[in-house]
Amino acid sequence: MANKVQAIKFDYNNMMADYVGNKEGITDKEITELKDQTKKVFSLVQNGRGQNMMGWTELPYNQDEVVADILDTAKKIRKEFDNFVVLGIGGSALGPMAVFQALCHMRHNQLPKSKRKAPKFYVEDNIDPERMKSLLDVIDIKKTMFNVITKSGSTSETMSQYLIIMDILKAHLGQDASKHMIATTSQTKGNLIKIAKKQGLKTFYIPDGVGGRFSEFSPVGLLPAAVLGINIKKMLKGARYMDKICQKADIKKNPALMAATLQYIAMTNKGKNISVMMPYADSLRLMADWYAQLWGESLGKAINLDGNKVFVGQTPVKALGVTDQHSQVQLYTEGPFDKVVTFISVENFRNVVTISDGCQDVPDVSFLCGHTLNELLTAELNATEYALTRAERLNCRIVLPEVNEFYLGQLMTLFMMQTAFAGAYLNIDTFNQPGVEEGKNATYALLGRAGYEDKANELNSQKEKSARYII
Ligand code: PA5
Repeated sequence: MANKVQAIKFDYNNMMADYVGNKEGITDKEITELKDQTKKVFSLVQNGRGQNMMGWTELPYNQDEVVADILDTAKKIRKEFDNFVVLGIGGSALGPMAVFQALCHMRHNQLPKSKRKAPKFYVEDNIDPERMKSLLDVIDIKKTMFNVITKSGSTSETMSQYLIIMDILKAHLGQDASKHMIATTSQTKGNLIKIAKKQGLKTFYIPDGVGGRFSEFSPVGLLPAAVLGINIKKMLKGARYMDKICQKADIKKNPALMAATLQYIAMTNKGKNISVMMPYADSLRLMADWYAQLWGESLGKAINLDGNKVFVGQTPVKALGVTDQHSQVQLYTEGPFDKVVTFISVENFRNVVTISDGCQDVPDVSFLCGHTLNELLTAELNATEYALTRAERLNCRIVLPEVNEFYLGQLMTLFMMQTAFAGAYLNIDTFNQPGVEEGKNATYALLGRAGYEDKANELNSQKEKSARYII
C-alpha cells in the first residue's frame, strides 16, 4: 500500500501529437501559443478565490468550527439511528453519493449491523413515486435520520420529499419528528431555512459563494460522510494538498491548469465535443456522475461574459472500466473523432483477488490462472488505452495511488479547479445554471406557484402538439 503523502498524477501523453499523431494530437507549440491566455486564465481564477461564487476554494481552510459541529452531530447519529437518508438533488446529492461509493464498503447497506459500524445510507435524488414508496418499505422511520439538502431552499423535488417525510414523521413521532430531520441550506436565502427555524430543526449552512456542484466540502458532503465514518479531516487535507498545487502559475506543475488547457484546445480547435470520464474502479463509478454534473452544468452556456451567444460546452459521458469496454469502447475507438477520454486508474486496490486454478486442459482459459483480478483490470486498462491511442483518439489518465479520503479530496479539488480554469478559457460564467433555473421556474408555473403566472401563461400559449406526429 502507498504510505507516503503524494499527489495524484495527471498523465497526458496520449493527448499529444507525439503519441496520438499529428492529425488529432496537440502539440507543445499549441500550448505555448496560448501562453498569454493561459496566464490570464490563471490570474482570473487565482484572483477570484474566495470571492463571489468562488467561496468553495476556501472550504478546505475555513471550517474548523463547522467540522467540529459535524463530527459531534455525526457521532450522535451513528449511535442513535439505523438509517441516514439524504433528500436532495443535483449538487446536493451527487457528491455524497460519489464519496459513499468510493470510501464505504461496496455493499454497505447489505452488511450486518455489527460489521457496518454506521447507519445504512440512502440518497433520494429523484421523485419517482415508486422509489419513494420502496424506501418507506425498507426503513423503520423511527430509527431514521433524514438530511434535507437544498442550497436554494426551494427546489420542488427536494421540498416535496421534505413535505412527505415530515408528514410521516409527525404521524409516527408527534413532537419528536423534528429530531429526525436535519436541514442543510443557505443561512440567508430560500424557504427551507424559514421552515427549519419554525420547526426547530438542527441546521447546517451552505455558504453563499458555494454553488451546488462545488459544495462537496461544505456540510452538504461533510455531514453524510462523517455519519458514514469517513475521515472528513483527511479528505479536507487532501483537498488542501491539491489546492496548493493548483495555485502554481507554471502550467507544467499545475495539473488542473494543464488539463483545462488541453480540453480547451481539444474543444475549440479539434472538435472534441464530448468528455468521457472512465474510472477503472467500481469505487469511483459515481465520481464520473459527479464530474458529469460539474463539467456539464458549469461549461454548457449560451452566452459568454461579453454578452455574446456562444453555445459552448463539452458533453460529459460517464463510463466504467472494464464494464463499458463491452458496451461503449467500440464507439470510442472507431466512431466519430469527437471525444476526449479521461481514464482514472488506481495503483493499489484495497483487496487482491487471485484467479483460481482450473481448466488446465484448456490453455486458452488457464492462462488466466494465478493472475489476480487486479492484474487483469490493469492489463485491460492498458490495452484500452493502447487501442484508443493507436486509433488516434485523444485520451489521458489520472492516477490515484489508492482510493482513500486523502486522494479523494485531491481528485475532487483537481476536477473543480480544472472546471474553473476551463470556464475562464471559455469566458463564461462557470458558476451559474440559467438552463436549470429555467426548468425549475417552468415547474413552479405548471404547479401553480404564486408569482409565476407570466411563466404559466407563456407555457400555456405553447403551440399544441399535433396528433399527426404521434404514432
Ligand atoms: O449545481 C447546482 O447549483 C445545481 O445542480 C443544484 O445543486 C441543483 O439544482 C439543486 O439545487 P438546490 O441545492 O438549490 O436544491
